[in-house]
Amino acid sequence: MADTATQAGGEQLEEKLEGMLDIEKFEPPEDFHKHALLSDPSVFEEADRDWKGWWLKQAKELHWFKEPTESVDESNAPFYKWFNDGKINASYNCLDRHVEAGNGDRVAFHWRGEEGEERDITYAELLRDTQKLANALKELGIKKGDVVGIFLPMIPEVVVAMMACARIGAPHNVVFGGFSADSVKERMEFSEAKALITVDGQRRKGKTAPVKAKVDEVISGLDTLQHMIVVKSTNNDCEMKEGRDHWYHELLEKADDECPAEELDAEHPLYILYTSGSTAKPKGVVHTTGGYLTGIAATHRYVFDLKPEEDVYWCSADVGWVTGHSYIVYGPMLNGATSVMFEGAPDYPHKGIWWELCERYGVTLFYTAPTAIRACMKWGVEHVNKFDLSKLRLLGTVGEPINPKAWLWYHVVIGGERCPIVDTWWQTETGAIMITPLPGIVETKPGSATRPFPGIAADVVDERDGTPVADGQGLLVITRPWPSMLRTLYKEDERFVETYFDRFGKETYLVGDAARKDKDGYFWIIGRIDDVVNVSGHRMSTAEVESAIVSHRMVAEAAVIGQADEDSGQAICAFVTLEGDETEGSDDLIAEIREHVAGRIGKLARPKRIIWADDLPKTRSGKIMRRLLRDIAEGRAVGDVTTLRDPDVMQQLEGKIKEEHQSEQ
Ligand code: WTA
Repeated sequence: MADTATQAGGEQLEEKLEGMLDIEKFEPPEDFHKHALLSDPSVFEEADRDWKGWWLKQAKELHWFKEPTESVDESNAPFYKWFNDGKINASYNCLDRHVEAGNGDRVAFHWRGEEGEERDITYAELLRDTQKLANALKELGIKKGDVVGIFLPMIPEVVVAMMACARIGAPHNVVFGGFSADSVKERMEFSEAKALITVDGQRRKGKTAPVKAKVDEVISGLDTLQHMIVVKSTNNDCEMKEGRDHWYHELLEKADDECPAEELDAEHPLYILYTSGSTAKPKGVVHTTGGYLTGIAATHRYVFDLKPEEDVYWCSADVGWVTGHSYIVYGPMLNGATSVMFEGAPDYPHKGIWWELCERYGVTLFYTAPTAIRACMKWGVEHVNKFDLSKLRLLGTVGEPINPKAWLWYHVVIGGERCPIVDTWWQTETGAIMITPLPGIVETKPGSATRPFPGIAADVVDERDGTPVADGQGLLVITRPWPSMLRTLYKEDERFVETYFDRFGKETYLVGDAARKDKDGYFWIIGRIDDVVNVSGHRMSTAEVESAIVSHRMVAEAAVIGQADEDSGQAICAFVTLEGDETEGSDDLIAEIREHVAGRIGKLARPKRIIWADDLPKTRSGKIMRRLLRDIAEGRAVGDVTTLRDPDVMQQLEGKIKEEHQSEQ
C-alpha cells in the first residue's frame, strides 16, 4: 500500500498532467536549442532542395575504402541502389575507425547483467573479439554472402557476432532471443543460413531457460545449417554435436588476432531481419551496407543530438528487433557513442531498475517504447523518485503512437520538464528513423511524431487514388527513396513490389499505417491500416480510441478492436486494465469511460463493450496482439499464442469472457 504522502503526490501529479493536456506545443528548451548539433531550421530546406546531394554529404561522413561519387540510382525502381560505386565495411566504421582515431579505450557498452554483474567493454576490446570471431567463421568455411543466424540474449557477444559477420560480408539474420526454437528454425530455413550463433541458456527474472537444447530439438533436419557456435553464458548443460557444434570461447582462443575488414560494395547485404506481415509467413527484410549506415549514422547523431565525448546513451530495446539493430548496435557504434546495454527485464530485481541504472551510468539520452512508459506509470512514481535522473537531457520513444498522457508523464516524471522528447516514427523496412522532431529545432506536440527527417518526403494520401489529403486522415506514404530503405524481401522480390510499391506506383512507398497531417504539417500516426475500425461507415483508429480511454484517470492501459456487429458492421470493443490494484470496475465506471471517449472523440467512438483485463496479450516487443483479442471477443478458438510475452494472459481473459456471458444470461 502506498503511504498517504505518496498518494497525495500521485493525486497532485494526476491533476498537473490533466491540466497540461491542453498545452498544444512544447518549444525546444532554450538551453538545448543553444547547444544542439542542429539548431537552424534551414536544414530542412537545404535537404529538400537537393536531397540526393544531402544524402551524399551524409554518406561522406562515413569511412569508405572507395568514396562514392553517385547518390541514388533510380533506373530499376523500386529496386533502388545507393552510393553504388562506393566500397565500405560496417564493422570498420563501427570499430577500427574509432580505435585509429585514438578512442579505443572509450567504453562502447556499460553492460549490466540481470543479477547485477557489470562489464565495461571498450571499442578496442570489441575490435579484438570481432576480428577473432571473423577469423573463426572463415575457418569454418563461412564466406562472403553466406547467411549467419544469431540467436542470443542481451549479452555483449551479440554485438561481436553481428560485427564479425559484417566484417567478412556474411549477412546476419538475428532472431529475437525471446522467440521459440521453431521460429528460429523457420528463419534459418527461409534464409538458408550456414551457421547459427547461439547460447547455452538464457536468464530471465532469476530463472534460466535452456536455449541450445531447445534449438537442437528442431534444427537437426536442416541440411543447410552446417555449424553452431555456442556462447557459454549460464553454464547450462548442453550437448555438443561433434563436427557441427563449437564453443564460442574455444574458437576465439584459437583464432588469429587480425582480420582485415572486407572491402564490400555499398549494396552488399548487411542483414536480413524477419518481421511480421499480413500473411502468416514473416517477411525477410533485406538491408544493405552503404545506404543503411548512412541513414542510421545521420539519424542517430541528429535525432538524439549525440555528443560522443559527453553523452551516455541508452536504448532499452532488444537487439533482436530493428530498433536494437539500428539504435543499440549500428547507430551508436558508428558514432562512437558510449551506451548502456541491459540484459534484464524492466521490473527485475525491482520496478525502478531502469532509473537506478540511469543514475548509476549517468545516462543523458534515453530511448524507449510507449508501452514501457505506461507500465512505469502504472507502477507509480515512487519507483522513479528514489533515483537521480538529473543527467538526462533528451528522451525518445518508438514503436507505437504515444498517448498524450503518457507523453506528459514521461516529460514531467522522467524528464523533469527540461528534456525534449523525440517521438520517432519508423519501421523495420525503413531501417532508420523517418518522422521525428529534431530536438533543437522542432516544437513538439504530445502524440505527434512531428515532421520528416531532413531529406525524407512523406505524405498522407487518399486510399482510393493516392491523391494527397490536405487536412484529414489517409494512408501514410514516403514519396521519394531514402538510403536506409529495405532493398527487397529475401528471395521474394515480387512480394516486395506487391507489398510496398503496387498500390501507388514504384515511386511511392506504401507504409501500411494510417495517419493524418494537421494544419502545421505535423504527422499524427494513427496505427496500422489493419487496426482501423469501421463503425457505421465511419473510420476510426483503435489507437485513437485507446488513447482516449487511457486518458481517463482510472485507466492504465487499453486495447481496442473492431468486433463484428450486426447493426454497425463493426463495433468497438475495449479491453481495459485499471490503475493500481483494481482489476474490475463498476457499471458506473463503464458509463463514465464511454462518456469520456464520447467527449474526446465523439459518440461514435464510444466502446460498445468494455472487458476488464488484468493484463493485455503482448508480444515480447510490447505490441498488443489484437488478433488474439478479436478471437476472444468474437468467441473463436484463440490462435497461436507462442509469441506472447506471457501466454497466461489469454487464459485469464477467456475466464473473464465466460463470466461476462454468464452474467448476461
Ligand atoms: C508503429 C519499429 C506511431 C507503426 C521501429 C509502424 C509507430 C510500426 C511509431 C513498425 C511512432 C513505430 N508512432 N507508430 N513513433 N514507431 N510505429 O517494424 O505502426 O517493429 O508501421 O519497427 O510500428 O514496427 P516495426
